[in-house]
Amino acid sequence: MDLQAMRREYGLGSLHREQLETDPVKQFEKWMQQAIDSNLLSDPTAMTLATVDAQHMPSQRIVLLKGYDHTGFRFYTNKNSHKGQDINDNPQVALHFAWLPLERQISIIGSAVPLGDDENDRYFHSRPKESQVAALASQQSRPVESRDVLESHYQSLLKDYENTEVPRPQSWGGYSVHPQQFEFWQGGQHRLHDRYQYSKDRENWRITRLQP
Ligand SMILES: Cc1cc2nc3c(=O)[nH]c(=O)nc-3n(C[C@H](O)[C@H](O)[C@H](O)COP(=O)(O)O)c2cc1C
Repeated sequence: MDLQAMRREYGLGSLHREQLETDPVKQFEKWMQQAIDSNLLSDPTAMTLATVDAQHMPSQRIVLLKGYDHTGFRFYTNKNSHKGQDINDNPQVALHFAWLPLERQISIIGSAVPLGDDENDRYFHSRPKESQVAALASQQSRPVESRDVLESHYQSLLKDYENTEVPRPQSWGGYSVHPQQFEFWQGGQHRLHDRYQYSKDRENWRITRLQP
């Protein structure tokens, strides 16, 4: 397998300063809409969430973006999970969207703030009952002896809550990542990619072109 011989050109498009929205959230909205409309991505809302623990050790995993506005980018998880513990110790996180068929990536850096009970309850109960029970059955990131142990715990909870509402586990909830910096990247010919960084400057956003 000769990985060094594998290469392709990036030439789908280019990104010019005058095309950019002054507001990075609007720029994100534009690209997200294009990503959805392209039908080239199976999970356009999937993003890598990177965290750093109290010992400065990084880790990352994919989560789904469930909403965004100027206050933040929201996702849901188990707050006792590995990522939840990291965020508890260090709320600075990075989000990354890898939209490779579009030759685009977006990076966002910010601090994660837990969502309130009302918002957590609303989203939790909007999910299919099976997913609600699965959230109850899984102590995310902890070891489990076997798939059978997990399945039988899930099946017994499913029976328990057959005719009643599933209570949201206190550990289950969302975070909103308040953005401090964005980068929009568009692949360019000969590896001369277009990169624009938005960084927060008081109430405004400063836009800087970065070298590829
Ligand atoms: C496409 C995709 C979407 C996912 N969405 C979520 C999600 O929204 N929330 C979540 O907690 N885990 C999600 N996961 C699972 C996480 O990647 C991860 O395995 C899990 O959250 C445990 O991570 P941790 O042990 O680092 O905390 C998703 C995985 C994939 C591949």
